[in-house]
Amino acid sequence: MKIALLAGDGIGSEIMAQAIKVLEALRSDGLRIETEAAAVGGAGYDAARDPLPEGTLSIARAADAILFGAVGGPQYDTLPRAMRPEQGLLRLRKELSLFANLRPAVLYPELASASSLKPEIVAGLDIMILRELTGDIYFGQPRGRRETEGEREGFDTMKYRESEIRRIARVGFDTAMKRGRRLCSVDKANVLDTSILWREVVNEVARDFPQVELSHMYVDNAAMQLVRAPRQFDVIVTGNMFGDILSDEASMLTGSIGMLPSASLDAANKGMYEPIHGSAPDIAGKGVANPLATILSAAMMMRHTFDRADVADRIEGAVRQVLGQGLRTSDIWQDGMRRIGTVEMGDAVVSALAHR
Ligand code: IPM
Ligand code: MG
Repeated sequence: MKIALLAGDGIGSEIMAQAIKVLEALRSDGLRIETEAAAVGGAGYDAARDPLPEGTLSIARAADAILFGAVGGPQYDTLPRAMRPEQGLLRLRKELSLFANLRPAVLYPELASASSLKPEIVAGLDIMILRELTGDIYFGQPRGRRETEGEREGFDTMKYRESEIRRIARVGFDTAMKRGRRLCSVDKANVLDTSILWREVVNEVARDFPQVELSHMYVDNAAMQLVRAPRQFDVIVTGNMFGDILSDEASMLTGSIGMLPSASLDAANKGMYEPIHGSAPDIAGKGVANPLATILSAAMMMRHTFDRADVADRIEGAVRQVLGQGLRTSDIWQDGMRRIGTVEMGDAVVSALAHR
C-alpha cells in the first residue's frame, strides 16, 4: 500500500500526525504500508512558490492512495488565484481524475446531542452524498473577467458532458446498491440546461439498475429537505457546485464536522482521502484539533482503495470505542466527558486498535 501523505496547512500537520500513528500501528500488525510525505497548499507555496509543486504531483501520481490534511490560511488570502492553496487541491482532483467524491454524513449515537437539529430528526442519520468533482462550473471554460459596456464583469461556465454525468451516475447507483437502494439525483432542471441533460442521462443509467429507487429533486428543495427531514435520503448524487454546498449542510446535521471523512476516487478506485473540515487556522498549533476525521479518512482508504473492509471496520470500531470511553476533543466535548487534546486522541485510538 503506497500512501502519499499531504498534510497541508493549519491543523493539517497535527491531525496527519495522528493518522500516521494509526498507519504505523497497522504496519506493525503486518500491513505492508509505505508512506511518503510532500508539501501542498500554502506549504507548497512556501516551499516551491506553487500550491501543487511538481514533486508533490509526481508523488501523488505514483501512490495508490493519498491522505490529505487541509489547506488554506489567512496569509495566503491575497495571493493571485493560481497561487492560492485551494488550487493545489483542485488541481490534484483534476490531474488525477478523481471525479467521484463520497461524503458520508453519519450521526454517531454518542454525539447525538451535538447536532443543532432536534435529536428526533437526526437520530440514526446515515446519508451518503456523492459529488461530481472534476467538472461543472468549477472547471468550465470560458471563465474570467472582462469589461462590458464600461463596467467590470465576471463570468464562469457551467457545463457537463454526458460521459461525465454517466460515470458519476453509475457510481451513484452502485453506491445505492450497497446501501439502502435509494438514490436521489439533485439538479436545477427547472432553470438550467446543464441540469436538463443531467436528469436525462441519470434516467438513462437508471435502466441498468432496476432495483434502485431513483428520485429527482431541485437543489433548493434538497437544501430545505436536508434540514426538514434528512432521514428521507439514502444516497444523493449531484454536480460539483451543488455538492459542495449540500455536503457542508449535511455535515452540520451531524453536529461534528471534526468527525467526517471523505473519499475522492478515480475510475480504478485510486483515491484521495481527506477530512471534510478545513485548516482551522484559528486553532492551529494549539494541540486541540480533532484528528478523528483524518483517522476515519484512513479507514475509508482501507475500504475503497485497498479493499480491506476488515481493516476499515477495525479503525472505525476503535474510534467508536474511544467515544464510548467518554474521550472528546473540544469541538465535540459535552458535560460529563473527558476533554483531551489532538495527540491524546490519536494515542487513544491507537491503543483501542491494539485490543481489536
Ligand atoms: C471542498 C472545499 C473546496 C471546494 C475548496 C477548498 C476549493 O470547499 O472540498 O468542499 O470548493 O471543493
Ligand atoms: Mg466545500
